[in-house]
Amino acid sequence: MRSRFPLFLVLGIVFLASVSVSLTEKPSRSKCVQTCESEKDAARVEKCQLRCKHVSERGEKEEEEKKVIPEPHPSHEEKEEHEHEEEQWKGRQRREDPEERERVRQRERKKEEEMREREKEEEMREREKEEEMKERERKKGEKYRRREKKEKWEEVEEDRGYSDSQTQNNPFHFSSNRFHTLFKNQHGHMRVLQSFDQPSSTQLQNLQDYRVVEFKSRPHTLLLPHHANADFLLVVLSGRALINLVEPGNRDSYYLDPGYAQIIPAGTTFYLVNPERNKNLRVIKLAIPVNKPGKFENFFLSSTQEQQSYLQGFSEDILEASFDSKFEDISKVLFGEETLRQRQQEGVIVELSNEKIRELSRRAESSSRKINSFEYKPFDLRSSHPIYSNKLGAFYETTPEKNPHLQELNIFLNYVDINKEGLLLPHYNSKAIVILVVNEGEANIELVAVPEQQQQQKRQEVQRYTAELSKDDVFVIPAAYPVAINATSNLNFFAFGINAENNQRNFLAGEKDNVISEIPRQVFEVAFPGSGEDVEKLIKKKRESYFVAAQPQQKEENHIPLSSILGALH
Ligand SMILES: *[C@@H]1O[C@H](CO)[C@@H](O)[C@H](O)[C@H]1NC(C)=O
Repeated sequence: MRSRFPLFLVLGIVFLASVSVSLTEKPSRSKCVQTCESEKDAARVEKCQLRCKHVSERGEKEEEEKKVIPEPHPSHEEKEEHEHEEEQWKGRQRREDPEERERVRQRERKKEEEMREREKEEEMREREKEEEMKERERKKGEKYRRREKKEKWEEVEEDRGYSDSQTQNNPFHFSSNRFHTLFKNQHGHMRVLQSFDQPSSTQLQNLQDYRVVEFKSRPHTLLLPHHANADFLLVVLSGRALINLVEPGNRDSYYLDPGYAQIIPAGTTFYLVNPERNKNLRVIKLAIPVNKPGKFENFFLSSTQEQQSYLQGFSEDILEASFDSKFEDISKVLFGEETLRQRQQEGVIVELSNEKIRELSRRAESSSRKINSFEYKPFDLRSSHPIYSNKLGAFYETTPEKNPHLQELNIFLNYVDINKEGLLLPHYNSKAIVILVVNEGEANIELVAVPEQQQQQKRQEVQRYTAELSKDDVFVIPAAYPVAINATSNLNFFAFGINAENNQRNFLAGEKDNVISEIPRQVFEVAFPGSGEDVEKLIKKKRESYFVAAQPQQKEENHIPLSSILGALH
């Protein structure tokens, strides 16, 4: 009797435990739903109920599963073990051995505990999975929205499938999806690239004062008059712009073709026309904010459905006194009334009639003949000879030394064409940080970084950052970082060089501007394992400079044209 008592007790506990498990499992559903009612808003209630549904559904499913196999999702090994045990149990049943049975029960109890443990784990995993799913859904939605946005443009850009993690590893590469939309309608959009100074990477901290803005508009459109608290350095990538700059007592209009740049000093009121009949206008602006590092605002003169006129910020008294009119009249003329919504423009980019385009163009032509006009004139980035060129590419540069206005900004501008399979030889900028914007084509870029100086380490390994660049991508080349660009298709890019004055581009290969070849043989001898003579030969081997073939071996074979080889075979 004495020995039996604990056995019954144990069995009782097992029974109670199993009952309590099923009791706590079941009402958790209704309890869960009950708790939902205390949620504040409808959206939250819905979410909560969804959660409860999931809980109970899972519970039911598990129960079903339990009926078939006592273990939830046993692994292959576990299953085998279980089957083995079951066979043993059956065998023992035949023998009716109470001690054996007791041991088995104990094992079962242990198993039950394990099961509960596993259930808990499972639940946690499930919850994590749910979170993950939600995250994925969110990302998918974003991607979809992004694609949707793109498709509205006739030039549909394919999702190049950059995973964010891929680019996150490379703090210098900003693929085109890193632009955030400032405003957008059916006539065009304005987007700003995420800040260079990210909490995740301090590599580009000194670029925190600069932002890159992209503007696109359809034919026969106008970007409404506005000003901003940032200096802009604007470059036309494609299409044609008619830029109109106004200041007290002066209004100037200029046509800007691709490769033309225009400085718009902070606070200058301007409006931008796409006068073309069937070409989209694409413009890139480097913004240098005045008030806050990396942050600027656009102040629009007129009200649209998207944006209020800054004039509307003033009180009625101020407006009445300033315009010497009744507020109702001012409001009717300048801001439009609620009831006359259609009088207000939908967004800040608006369509222009042929007639208006003609009138604005006429004005532009007459103003370009003025002598004493706006101080900041547009300039052609290709007005002088390229600083480097051969049959594989051309590299134009407008430096602060050439343009006094660029001197104020301490910025240089590059316009670079590289033919397909051309390689811009490895080089580094002595002191400029280069912000490169891809206009057309594709390229592979390699950038070499040296780890930050830390305490004495074993050996400092250099790091290579690579990226596949394509249209609208931005890549930053910090000062002193060696870089090489391999054009995999005909490539055209623009670049803004920050801290430009007296920058020197030092090539590491090629015949000209090669900094290494200036080092004397005696130093080579001690610096490199090869003999001084061999090092010298290697360094000076390349006859060309700046641009070379990206596939050099093939090129040598190509001395004999392919056609003649083929001809010889016949
Ligand atoms: C340039 O890119 C092409 C295409 O990816 C590749 O085949 C070639 O080897 C690259 N050349 C160099 C010098 O990296």
